[in-house]
Amino acid sequence: MSNNNKNIHSSQIQRRRTFAIISHPDAGKTTLTEKLLLLGGAIRMAGSVKAKKSKKFATSDWMELEKQRGISVSTSVMNFEYKDYVCNLLDTPGHQDFSEDTYRTLAAADAAIMLIDGAKGVEPQTIKLFEVCKLRGIPIFTFINKLDRECQSPFELMDEIERVLGIPTYPMNWPVSSGERFKGIIDREEKKFHHFEGRNTTTETIAKVISLSQQEEIDKIVPSSLWQEAMDDLDMLETAGDPFSMEKFLKGEISPMFFGAAMTNFGIRLFLEKFLHLAPSPSPKQSNHGTVDPQESFFSGFIFKIQANMDPKHRDRIAFLRIVSGVYEAGLNVNVARLKREIRLTTPQQFFAQDRTSLDKAYAGDVVGIYDPGIFSIGDSLVENGQLEFEGIPSFAPEFFAIVKTNSALKRKQLMKGLEQLCQEGTIQMFIDDLRVASDPILAAVGNLQFDVLLFRLKNEYNVDCSLESLPFKHARWTNATNEEIEEARLKADVTVAKDHFDCPLFLFKNDFSLSYFQENFPKIALHTNNAKLHKNMMSLPS
Ligand code: G4P
Repeated sequence: MSNNNKNIHSSQIQRRRTFAIISHPDAGKTTLTEKLLLLGGAIRMAGSVKAKKSKKFATSDWMELEKQRGISVSTSVMNFEYKDYVCNLLDTPGHQDFSEDTYRTLAAADAAIMLIDGAKGVEPQTIKLFEVCKLRGIPIFTFINKLDRECQSPFELMDEIERVLGIPTYPMNWPVSSGERFKGIIDREEKKFHHFEGRNTTTETIAKVISLSQQEEIDKIVPSSLWQEAMDDLDMLETAGDPFSMEKFLKGEISPMFFGAAMTNFGIRLFLEKFLHLAPSPSPKQSNHGTVDPQESFFSGFIFKIQANMDPKHRDRIAFLRIVSGVYEAGLNVNVARLKREIRLTTPQQFFAQDRTSLDKAYAGDVVGIYDPGIFSIGDSLVENGQLEFEGIPSFAPEFFAIVKTNSALKRKQLMKGLEQLCQEGTIQMFIDDLRVASDPILAAVGNLQFDVLLFRLKNEYNVDCSLESLPFKHARWTNATNEEIEEARLKADVTVAKDHFDCPLFLFKNDFSLSYFQENFPKIALHTNNAKLHKNMMSLPS
């Protein structure tokens, strides 16, 4: 690469921010996404994302399931530019049954935004998704939404987040009341007050910004009691709170906190600008040949998601690739270590809901879709001139188990093909009973809704009508015990031994009792709730 190209390459990387939003359903993720896209000029009208959402529901069979269940199954990637930044926003499913999908998406993100409804505080799925986020150790921003409604006090929210999620927050701005009396937010760093003048959903609410030194101006618009309360709160924060630590933030140990009202477009620009400033640019990634820096000139990336039938007219499969280093251009030849073969890449695609556009070039940090003729698996590394492999994306202990039955013996081949492909996509996990007592694979899911998706897709995409017969297991635990130890445990304990699709052994337990009996009686056998420790090259997880 020439020096000039190197500089261009480096500045392209520095501009990129790749992140995801996690939230409990209804906290306002769609609304916030829409406002961010509006600011980035990616859409012109409020309502476009919702409109796309419903158009998508109407046109795709696949999305029909989402509509029926009122859930979001798929993860989409949205790209927009803001000032000098290029943003890749990864959407995550809100339902905890798809937390594995969330984990994989976060494997491709450099930061996450945790969106919380200010009235409801930390909700069950916030907890589950936050735990997943914490496993990745990435920086987490907190955005408290719906300040135009009566909310919990900011101190209560800070306390709840720290108590329930175990992460302290650092308020970057501070609200002056909420609900009917909501007057705006104070930017602590700039020492400026952003006045909330009311509702405006179609265009950005241009807030009147007043310096905190202009008390007379503030007195004209904010009742003195509300202002005094906010000032007292800020005094307390200054004296009792720790200063913001960039180091802790980058390690995911403290979360900068923001307030706003996405629906009224208030506080969003302020948030976005601080977010882009604080969020890290694309980070290096671990591989079996050491760390790969985004500045490296060779192209490399990994697949974190495979999505079938994004467009029902095409019946295609798209693999989402996070670029780790180098430049992606159509025609590039890459090695896929798992397949031990070279592949010529087609034009990278960017997606916006149902629409797709071709790109000339994509850089480290970008997330692009590539056409997948059915060869890729989640976690595959694509590398120019080399055989390195990035750390794999682990599977998590499932809690629901079943075998699938079809009435038609003629459809068996089709069924196995469907299961194989859906397993590659990460829709479900598939285990083989080690003794092969049953010829059917054991299907396993972290959340029950995954099974609904499986049946729906087998019927709609593979034309196989199936039913599920649930199996009486409750826990799965991976193990790296020796064959002899496993054999002894099998004979002495009420346990089934199986292998996952990487051929890693695991135990299946029928209930809590059989699991604790096993732990007491086989203390030397370590049990794992994910398969991260069983592979030489798997993303590490905190134990
Ligand atoms: P989600 O994607 O996280 O599920 O949430 P979504 O954005 O769809 O928002 C859920 C509901 O919360 C929507 O109302 C939305 O308008 C509302 N909402 C989002 N942000 C704010 C906010 O800042 N203030 C207030 N007051 N409401 C907010 P809905 O009635 O379900 O839908 P709609 O008819 O408004 O589209």
